[in-house]
Amino acid sequence: MPDFKKLFTPSRIGDLTIKNRVVMSPMQTFSYENDGTPNQKTIDYFVARARGGAGLIICPGAKPSPESHAPKTPALYNDKVIPLFLELTEAVHNQGTKIAQQINHTGKALTYNQALAQGTGLAESIGPSPLRYVKTGVVLRKASLEDIQRITEQISEAARRARDAGFDMIELHAAHGYLLSSFLSSFSNRRDDQYGGTPEKRARLLCEIIMRTREKVGPHFPIGVRISGSDFLVGGTTIEDTLIQAPLFVKAGADALHISAGAHENTEVQFLSYLWPDGFITNLAAAVKKVVDVPVITVGKLGNPEVAEEVIKQGFADFVALGRQLLADPEWPNKVRDNKLDRINYCICCNNCWKRVFSKSREVGRLYCTVNPAVHRETLFDLKQALSAKKISVIGGGLAGMEVARVAAERGHQVTLFEKSSELGGQFLIACQQPDKSKYLSLLKRQVQGIREAGVNVITNISVTPGILLESRPDIVVLATGASPKKLPVPGIDRPTVVQGIDVIQGKAQVGEKVAVIGGRLIGMEVALDLARQGKKVSLITDKRLGENGEPLEENIYRTLRNRLIENGVQFFTGCPLLEVNEGGVFLDDNGNLLSIQADTVVLAVGFSPVIDLFAELKLIAPEIHVIGDCKTPRDALEAMHEGAELGRIL
Ligand SMILES: Cc1cc2nc3c(=O)[nH]c(=O)nc-3n(C[C@H](O)[C@H](O)[C@H](O)COP(=O)(O)OP(=O)(O)OC[C@H]3O[C@@H](n4cnc5c(N)ncnc54)[C@H](O)[C@@H]3O)c2cc1C
Ligand SMILES: Cc1cc2nc3c(=O)[nH]c(=O)nc-3n(C[C@H](O)[C@H](O)[C@H](O)COP(=O)(O)O)c2cc1C
Ligand code: SF4
Repeated sequence: MPDFKKLFTPSRIGDLTIKNRVVMSPMQTFSYENDGTPNQKTIDYFVARARGGAGLIICPGAKPSPESHAPKTPALYNDKVIPLFLELTEAVHNQGTKIAQQINHTGKALTYNQALAQGTGLAESIGPSPLRYVKTGVVLRKASLEDIQRITEQISEAARRARDAGFDMIELHAAHGYLLSSFLSSFSNRRDDQYGGTPEKRARLLCEIIMRTREKVGPHFPIGVRISGSDFLVGGTTIEDTLIQAPLFVKAGADALHISAGAHENTEVQFLSYLWPDGFITNLAAAVKKVVDVPVITVGKLGNPEVAEEVIKQGFADFVALGRQLLADPEWPNKVRDNKLDRINYCICCNNCWKRVFSKSREVGRLYCTVNPAVHRETLFDLKQALSAKKISVIGGGLAGMEVARVAAERGHQVTLFEKSSELGGQFLIACQQPDKSKYLSLLKRQVQGIREAGVNVITNISVTPGILLESRPDIVVLATGASPKKLPVPGIDRPTVVQGIDVIQGKAQVGEKVAVIGGRLIGMEVALDLARQGKKVSLITDKRLGENGEPLEENIYRTLRNRLIENGVQFFTGCPLLEVNEGGVFLDDNGNLLSIQADTVVLAVGFSPVIDLFAELKLIAPEIHVIGDCKTPRDALEAMHEGAELGRIL
């Protein structure tokens, strides 16, 4: 049995003793009030993570000034907010966990807010140099020396307020391309005054802010600094730059360094998806640790307990920060400490949480997680026994069907789950067979284990018909029959050379040496990459932009796949509808010009259609019927899980 002794050895940051080496990484929650104060929902969320055993929680970036404030995020530019933050720090302290506040001037990220970008006075986004920010197209205003002085005061005052609000530590956010980090990096800092040029000059602003903060918070209050060990960008900060800058921050007064990676333009090395190895950026922390004498925190896909323990054991870092893993399972630390690894809800690095950050999370004011639908509704989501036990038939054993079946059965209902194929899992079972998605298996295993433990009666190898349900007479029917891959209505589509992407993944289809993949979204890009890696000549064809199908793909997964497709020599044909499949390959419409692409296999990955044909008949015979998951509208694993979890609680 593995032991995790090192992870659970207490340690210190400055004068602060922390009970273990597990730090909750700062993650914006979008759940704060509009004046930037924490409400009960936010407090409950952090208390759940404290109760789960994290040693130190770092709260997400608080804004030091009105001009840098974004809605629903913490703000510390006014003394009036201090009592409300005190409620949060007290609640977390009551669980024996220490709590830090990150402070972040978001710089160019402010240009997301249209009103700000249009220059309303409060509004202008500043940066070290007047460069165009690729994500919004806005050209930043070059920070003047007065701006620099004002921001130094604002950030250090915010730190003082955090101390007064009962936080045990502050962390200055100087990673990921936000304002302070953009001064550190030669990608964004092209100044030739005392704040630009050499790595030392680029470090000057952050050093000045650390020193001013020290004056405000006193000699014993810990100041942490978060930096990107490398930008992984041409012309940006390299680990060599960081090894020059890191000791300067310590000399200026930093008590801990938290080493992340990436800039705003390439967050894929920050939010490491399933396409990257565990602990991909820990080598950066390990390098920094060799040149400083303060504790170093590492981060980045460290939810595998064995990997996390090894990081501490090998001395690569003093603390392991977990972000998404603590969304997926707030109890990770306690479960690891107690060696209950099979009870952990592992983060599968699907990045569906991040996909919702710019849409649903901001609108609704909370985070979302595929494997943990309870995020930000921890107390509401406790299971309550059903008032009367009902007979429920769930049709379809994909994620949605399994989740609703488990939750309903745990509440005391008598549940039968019917699945057409011999194995449970539906589309997700196919996803698990993709080369990079081995982490997805943990969710599938947990779902199967969950329905077994809840006492769901599972019947596989049965395609449900109205007749079968008439015999079993359920009180409630849940249709979770999912979706099946589409075809395109073009000549030649029934040729034997045309195969479905999901059949390629499952090894059910023969694929030649020259391949035309039709469909440029997730499955199309992933299948094209796998085939190219096998040495095949692959053309990737889409009638839209790459990575789009009405809605764009999650940005980090998109950029990673796009870059790897380019590296592997895949040719893109975007905005080119398929006209015909023929003997030699395919005809495309290239903006009014006929384009012929050679291919001996044509792989379709053009989306899914709901499998909903049973609904009309079942509606006539079932006393109550519900439709969830992809059979409602094909979407993703998060929606399937959420709809199952939510319906199961109200049946
Ligand atoms: C290759 C692939 C990769 C993917 N990758 C991702 C990803 O990275 N991230 C992500 O979020 N999503 C991904 N998805 C999408 C995600 O897997 C689905 O959105 C989600 O699993 C849908 O779950 P569901 O339960 O609604 O439907 P399904 O998974 O389609 O399940 C429906 C089930 O119903 C059964 N069924 C149908 N009719 C009957 C009947 N009459 N009687 C009995 N049983 C029946 C089917 O056999 C099936 O098992 C991927 C999908 C595929 C195919
Ligand atoms: C929803 C979300 C919000 C985040 N907000 C912040 C933030 O406010 N400040 C910050 O430094 N990092 C932020 N991050 C990055 C995380 O702190 C962490 O570095 C990243 O998720 C990688 O760690 P992980 O692999 O353990 O998730 C955020 C991450 C997520 C998923
Ligand atoms: S949504 Fe996916 S990546 Fe995000 S925390 Fe949940 S499992 Fe992890």
